[in-house]
Amino acid sequence: MRCNRCDPKAGNLTVMRISVIGTGYLGATHAACMADLGHEVIGFDVDPEKVASLAAGTVPFHEPGLDAVLQRALAAGRLRFTTAIADVAAHADVHFLCVGTPQSKDSNAADMSQVNGAIDLLAPHLDRACLVVGKSTVPVGTAQRLAAQLQDTSPAGADVHLAWNPEFLREGHAVADTVAPDRLVIGVTDPADEATLRQVYAPILANDVPLIVADLPTSELVKASANAFLATKISFINAIAELCEATGADITVLADAIGRDERIGRRFLNAGLGFGGGCLPKDIRAFRARATELGVGESLDLLDDVDAINQRCRTRAVAAALSLTSQQLAGKSVTILGAAFKPDSDDVRDSPALAVAAELIEHGAQVTIFDPVANQNASTRVPTATYAHTLEEALAGAELVLLLTEWKQFQDLDPIKTKSQVAMPLMIDARNVLDPQQWAHAGWTIHSLGRGTRHP
Ligand code: UGA
Repeated sequence: MRCNRCDPKAGNLTVMRISVIGTGYLGATHAACMADLGHEVIGFDVDPEKVASLAAGTVPFHEPGLDAVLQRALAAGRLRFTTAIADVAAHADVHFLCVGTPQSKDSNAADMSQVNGAIDLLAPHLDRACLVVGKSTVPVGTAQRLAAQLQDTSPAGADVHLAWNPEFLREGHAVADTVAPDRLVIGVTDPADEATLRQVYAPILANDVPLIVADLPTSELVKASANAFLATKISFINAIAELCEATGADITVLADAIGRDERIGRRFLNAGLGFGGGCLPKDIRAFRARATELGVGESLDLLDDVDAINQRCRTRAVAAALSLTSQQLAGKSVTILGAAFKPDSDDVRDSPALAVAAELIEHGAQVTIFDPVANQNASTRVPTATYAHTLEEALAGAELVLLLTEWKQFQDLDPIKTKSQVAMPLMIDARNVLDPQQWAHAGWTIHSLGRGTRHP
């Protein structure tokens, strides 16, 4: 069988020789986890600093639990990293493509330069049968295009196959989502490629994880649709949150009530500041742009609204800050709790918290930001804010506090103690994690997005 001319069986696992091209969140996690499952893995990146860091056992971003997996795999001798593409082609029978597809600088479409660059780099070195497996989130149609390119430009020609295997991992849960996913989805054109991927994922499939086998375009669309649905769910609840604020209703009670219906489900119905990060915002835009290219743009018109509702969450938080300070933000000491796009991450790409911080600075506020792990990344994006080293330092003398990323330590804030630390007990809870009644009782004026304002 192709792609399986490798090491003999170790236990129930057929050890595969794997490469992972691109070592960002997705690639670093995939490489470490595949090696931890027992495969022989080589990770490739064009960035020598990333490669050096990973080879030394240090994950260059914050991802709980990943350091331990990486170090275990390195110590077992099953994982190494390189900047030499020839090493990758020589080592592996299965190549996972894990490079980024950010938003283009000048349009909503995906910037495909990393994907195209990786294939251009790899193809001339593929001189024997192998399977290239795309994991990056790409516009539908990419897989078919790359399959043809690989066959046309690789020395091994038609012996180079391509499959698509979209990734659903969440930052902050990357390891668990990789080794125990809800499902595995593979797009294949040849049953032999399905068999190869079944061998790669054998230890995961042994735990009854469902495997969905599809064609190439379906597998690409599964990923785009999943992220579009999640974004739509969040924007739906945030749209209803606007109605709650206009009517005195409570979005958290409403979400609990509709979420009890199993057809709806409570997850991803947390109203507040909306979604950010390196995936959902750019993916819905790229999906919409691709639909337009395909002449069916209207079918995804709703994603424009999803995006607009999401941007309005940020505007509503700023409006609440202006309202609580009687439009007098200029010169005010404003403390922002959280800079990462979500807790358990140091990722500040399209962070809603930083978008609000930048707006408040525009209004003349003296903004101090505290995030348990993302201060450094945030300071390159919003350099005009002050960054506090501790929560206490951040709160001292604050005339308005905004909770913008729901780290556990912010959820656990004690309203009485916190009141003694600030100059003015004014709070905006943009993630609906504080009990407004308790905070108002402790003497705070608190505005929760989707629950309105409570006074002491
Ligand atoms: C998202 C998807 O959840 C993953 O399945 C997917 O693999 C990944 O994108 C990707 O395409 O790589 P991620 O960006 O890590 O994962 O983060 P999520 O947990 O989805 O959160 C996204 C944003 O939505 C965060 O800013 C979060 O604060 C916000 N959110 C989430 C809400 O505002 N409300 C909710 O109820 C849930």
